[in-house]
Amino acid sequence: MELYLDTADVKSVKRLAKILPIQGVTTNPSIVAKEKKPIFDVLNELQAAVGAKSQLFAQVIANNAKDMIKEAEKLRLYFPTIVIKVPVTSEGLIAIKELSAQEITTLGTAVYGAGQGFLSALAGAKYVAPYVNRIDAQGGSGIEVVAELQTLLEMHCPSSMILAASFRTPRQVLDCLLAGCKSITIPTDIAELFIADPAVDAAIKQFDNDWINAFGDLKL
Ligand code: E4P
Repeated sequence: MELYLDTADVKSVKRLAKILPIQGVTTNPSIVAKEKKPIFDVLNELQAAVGAKSQLFAQVIANNAKDMIKEAEKLRLYFPTIVIKVPVTSEGLIAIKELSAQEITTLGTAVYGAGQGFLSALAGAKYVAPYVNRIDAQGGSGIEVVAELQTLLEMHCPSSMILAASFRTPRQVLDCLLAGCKSITIPTDIAELFIADPAVDAAIKQFDNDWINAFGDLKL
């Protein structure tokens, strides 16, 4: 099981990396743009925050295959193990095929349909990222896309895996895991929701009060 944070906010990554067993950080152009710094600075800071052995993901910006490939090669020059996120368009599929031939690890992103995601796996993408919440927001069913894609990959492309993405609720995350997803990336607010629950705080406060009432202080 691989768990990633979907953010470029270094402060949050540092905090959550101490608490959660994360394997690394995923980014996209919107996430990086929020930091208002050059992407290579952002990626350097993220790598330092999660440690040299953790996995980074960065997305190409170009919309044509030739430039996508150039950008991927440039990113890999500075970050030799980075996974290159490529939107699954016709140009993106050309780029994924070429990058796979070069043994550059890719992730097919902006996936809204099982068939679309499946094609990126066939083209050689190691990861396929269905956008669960964005599919739901369109009136579709993110979890149905995930479940179909999971079956397709298991049956026909066992060397590719879903990296489920785009979440607004912890329930969406759990549904993906229950559908068999072995990797997932969550935004920091969803990570915080998994950790903090007012009912847990109330339960602990009750234990503290009972102990203090009996023994005077909070010590064993
Ligand atoms: C993943 O590849 C995307 O970067 C991301 O998860 C999209 O999430 P959003 O719908 O919250 O922007």
